[in-house]
Amino acid sequence: MDDPLLNLPTLQTPRLALRYFRVTDAARVQLLAGDFRVAQMTVAIPHPYPDGAAEAWIATHDNLWREQGVGTWAICRAPEGAEELVGCVSLITNRKHNRADFGYWIGVDYWNHGYCTEAAAAVMAFGFNTMKLARIGAVHLASNPASGRVMQKLGMTCEGTQRHYILHRGESSDVVNYGILPSDPRPASAR
Ligand SMILES: CC(C)(COP(=O)(O)OP(=O)(O)OC[C@H]1O[C@@H](n2cnc3c(N)ncnc32)[C@H](O)[C@@H]1OP(=O)(O)O)[C@@H](O)C(=O)NCCC(=O)NCCS
Repeated sequence: MDDPLLNLPTLQTPRLALRYFRVTDAARVQLLAGDFRVAQMTVAIPHPYPDGAAEAWIATHDNLWREQGVGTWAICRAPEGAEELVGCVSLITNRKHNRADFGYWIGVDYWNHGYCTEAAAAVMAFGFNTMKLARIGAVHLASNPASGRVMQKLGMTCEGTQRHYILHRGESSDVVNYGILPSDPRPASAR
């Protein structure tokens, strides 16, 4: 059997498959993540999204997983068998402290169907059960309540707001911190 800590494992949820990104996903990544409504709420996604950037990003994934425990999953739904990439969820591990942080985005056409929560719950279960993390955290811009709602639905605890914590697209912006420990209550889908 594949070592999940060597090769990023595929995770299955009731509606979704979470798998490693392939270079053939690049055009779809550029389309979905290139939408300003997605990019504007993140610190990592460039806008406009340059040609070639998705291919370059995907090419980093294997080594990041093997060397640093940074896992990045393509979130795919499969209506009637035809797989459709709808977003991305990452678990960014800090090995020194045995903790990790979530990153995620979902294509605008797929918002508010519970996909992000469903995907992140599966990654949380993997992080606690397989990686044995001591904590998973997440941070969102105060201007992005939908992301905060995902964190709440995952059972994460709000640990406070840092005012003017980042300079985001030219503006000092507040960020809200969430965290969860393996001993905290969490939804069945994240166990
Ligand atoms: C944040 C994001 C990933 C959520 O994805 P999603 O698949 O729509 O998330 P879910 O459907 O699982 O949950 C969204 C929740 O936010 C709620 N929500 C949506 N817009 C909201 C708003 N303006 N204010 C408060 N809650 C809101 C939804 O109602 C839903 O909660 P509910 O199930 O209790 O009704 C998606 O909006 C996105 O990609 N945004 C841009 C990128 C981003 O913000 N990434 C995260 C950076 S921290």
